Amino acid sequence: MSLLEILEFPDPRLRKKALPVDKVDDALKQTIDDMFETMYAASGIGLAAIQVSIQKRLLIIDLADGEEGEEPKPLVFINPEITVLDPTPYRHEEGCLSVPGYFEFVERPQKVLVNALNREGEAFEIEAEGLLAVCVQHEIDHLNGKLFVDYLSVLKRQRIKSKLEKEHKQNASA
Ligand code: NI
Repeated sequence: MSLLEILEFPDPRLRKKALPVDKVDDALKQTIDDMFETMYAASGIGLAAIQVSIQKRLLIIDLADGEEGEEPKPLVFINPEITVLDPTPYRHEEGCLSVPGYFEFVERPQKVLVNALNREGEAFEIEAEGLLAVCVQHEIDHLNGKLFVDYLSVLKRQRIKSKLEKEHKQNASA
């Protein structure tokens, strides 16, 4: 397994639209394993393939925080399709491994149904509510080139963008 590089806002590659996965093979499973390793190393709870420069409709989630010996609960969604079951706005403070250090409130539909393929390429469906619903919608946004900062005011987004750009410049010259 290996750690993958996570792209950071405003990298234009995060704006690409991910393409459907046509087959679930060993190479894809390797990618999934690498994504989990990368996400756990970064203490994230969700990661879309597009964030590690892989333009595929694939995302992973694990809401277990690993504290008090909690077992990992890895979820894999390949070619996910989402249906809103309850559009009532649910407000949650979101963060993103591609926007490190920033957390902002975003409103999303409270309950959704997700149809996808799992790591074995088998179809499944899951009703997601609360944090899982937030996370699935946030990650599916990534597959469509969208970031949580897009839900913020232009001013807020610009401020985050300039701060991250400054950090990237400093890291590059360090
Ligand atoms: Ni994200």
